[in-house]
Amino acid sequence: EKDGYDWFMRKEIHEQPRAIADSMLGRHDEAGRLQLDEIRISEDELRDVDKIIIVACGTAFYAGLVAKYAIEHWTRIPCEVELAHEFRYRDPILTRDTLVVAISQSGETADTLMAIRHAREQRSKVLAICNTNGSTIPRESDAVIYTHAGPEIGVASTKGFMTQLVACYLLALYLAQVRGTRYGDEIASVVHELEKMPAHVQRMLDEASVVNELAAELSEAGSVLFLGRHAGFPVALEGALKLKELAYIHAEGFAAGELKHGPIALVEDQLPVICVVPPRGRDFLHDKMVSGIQEVRARGARTIVLAEEDDDVVAPYADVLIKLPKVPTLLQPMVATVPLQLFACELATVKGHDVDQPRNLAKSVTVE
Ligand code: F6R
Repeated sequence: EKDGYDWFMRKEIHEQPRAIADSMLGRHDEAGRLQLDEIRISEDELRDVDKIIIVACGTAFYAGLVAKYAIEHWTRIPCEVELAHEFRYRDPILTRDTLVVAISQSGETADTLMAIRHAREQRSKVLAICNTNGSTIPRESDAVIYTHAGPEIGVASTKGFMTQLVACYLLALYLAQVRGTRYGDEIASVVHELEKMPAHVQRMLDEASVVNELAAELSEAGSVLFLGRHAGFPVALEGALKLKELAYIHAEGFAAGELKHGPIALVEDQLPVICVVPPRGRDFLHDKMVSGIQEVRARGARTIVLAEEDDDVVAPYADVLIKLPKVPTLLQPMVATVPLQLFACELATVKGHDVDQPRNLAKSVTVE
């Protein structure tokens, strides 16, 4: 049933191109116009939404962080992302015009379920993004966008996360279409970029050997830092979480701009620092990331850099370079996450851990 793979997790990582394609299927027409009829919240109601709050836990929360960048950019609706277990205890401001989006692979996470119950009591609309048909969270929501990752058996979420990203982008684009905040041709061009994602992700999978060598080399590392900016920041957090939960290595993700405000004190000779570099665009994001990388190198860090394939600006500052296909900044998390999943899976394998059943963890957390 593992199709020749050593772990379900590795199999599921490799299923991502198909999972992405399946999660896109039937959700847009040939002209790139989105069709999310399943949403069951009327266009009028969606036009009245004045705030979006995303609630989720763990990896799903990181998908939510990526979604915030996309939603605010494309729709101009203010969007907050909150850990589901923190949400209701702070008495959040919720109205009928608040759209609460709950992201959950299993649909059974108690923390997330309690958060949506609270939101519905306050009469907010709840939309679930979920991978499990008929599970509790979608049953208790006003609407649902199902991801089509197929069953996820490995405890660590991989294809679940990837398809949550797809659903979040589709939701953001749909809201932009309904509210007219973006022109149709711009939406169509992002849809077109999303259509290319299965091939891009496949390419990242085909180039796993660099990552596997790196995992063998870093198997004795005591600590690994991950840096990102903008949509790359949640990718850094996700990379660090995967390494903690599977390889039991201390790992932390930081927004690169935050380094100088404290965490740079952690950097010492030979500390591995994995850096997710944004595409070279018109803004200064890329250049700022490059200077962050220079800063950690100057203090002896070993830099593992994920950057666009033709990024010759950052290349000289990389001890190890992992090349990413050219994609829009907001979509880069889809390609940048893949090597980090493979890295954690391989490192845990090298260390002899049970990748599918990491210690102390359960696939769905049904207690608060
Ligand atoms: C990490 C992981 C967890 C889950 C979290 C939420 O690899 O799998 O952090 O993402 O427990 O689970 P769901 O999405 O089922 O609500």
